Amino acid sequence: MMQNNILKYEAVSISFAEEKAVNEVSFNLKKGEILGVVGESGSGKSTIIKSIMRILNSDGVIDSGRIIFEEDNLLDKSEKEMQGIRGAKIGMIFQDSASSLCPIRTIGDQIIEAMKAHGKADKARFKEHALTLFEKLNFKDVERIWDSYPFELSGGMNQRVGIAIAMLLNPPLLLADEPTSALDYKATNQVMDELKRLRDIYDTSIILVTHDISVVSMVADNVLVLKQGKIMEYGKVKSVLENPQNDYTKLLLSAVPERGSDGWNLSNLS
Ligand SMILES: Nc1ncnc2c1ncn2[C@@H]1O[C@H](COP(=O)(O)OP(=O)(O)OP(=O)(O)O)[C@@H](O)[C@H]1O
Ligand SMILES: [Mg+2]
Repeated sequence: MMQNNILKYEAVSISFAEEKAVNEVSFNLKKGEILGVVGESGSGKSTIIKSIMRILNSDGVIDSGRIIFEEDNLLDKSEKEMQGIRGAKIGMIFQDSASSLCPIRTIGDQIIEAMKAHGKADKARFKEHALTLFEKLNFKDVERIWDSYPFELSGGMNQRVGIAIAMLLNPPLLLADEPTSALDYKATNQVMDELKRLRDIYDTSIILVTHDISVVSMVADNVLVLKQGKIMEYGKVKSVLENPQNDYTKLLLSAVPERGSDGWNLSNLS
């Protein structure tokens, strides 16, 4: 693999109806790296994630650049090739997993359904595989979760299940768009622990989009600060957060809410 990079996002520009949403953005993601992407609403965070998955709607045009994933430019892939990549090679988790889970079917049934869609057919093995993953991710009471309906689980638990489901096929790259914005502080911490654990166990590379810079301080290695589609700052979390060079980054940092002793805290960054 080229210099250990799993993803190279190279000088990508994207526009909607001639309006630039992403402007010459470049970054690299190494194997096992967690990259935090922060910036105000409308700065282009979700557009970047969608461009990697190639799920921009037809109004979104990639004007220039390359998105190299494991040596291939994703922008050259056919839709059919992308269908083989989504889920299996690049996993995605959304703001609200509960809403992407079917409300009237158990978690276990949904997992079996999802794995069948990828051409595997042994129910007992799926279950064993899923429950093993749940246990590795520190879920308690894994049989109960398997038999639960989404409404029987808390929002935080649904989100953690959503992440586990995205990991069942063990994609080397996981894209998470605001995975904790609907969660309280405690559930946020649990989800962040889960992401770190994934990285530690599977060497998963993760892009974590968030409004919340304190979340970045908890888990990310590098951070990219976006404003109006342009990179304001990009580098190691510790140096960017401790010594921001850019006024916009300073502004974002000053807006960090109080989170108590184990939350936003630069001493986490050692
Ligand atoms: N489908 C679309 N059609 C038209 N414009 C869009 C579309 N999706 C995004 N945009 C525009 O692209 C820009 C970036 O939007 P994007 O959703 O990427 O921002 P974001 O950083 O994810 O914001 P948020 O924090 O609110 O989720 C915005 O100006 C937005 O209005
Ligand atoms: Mg968004």
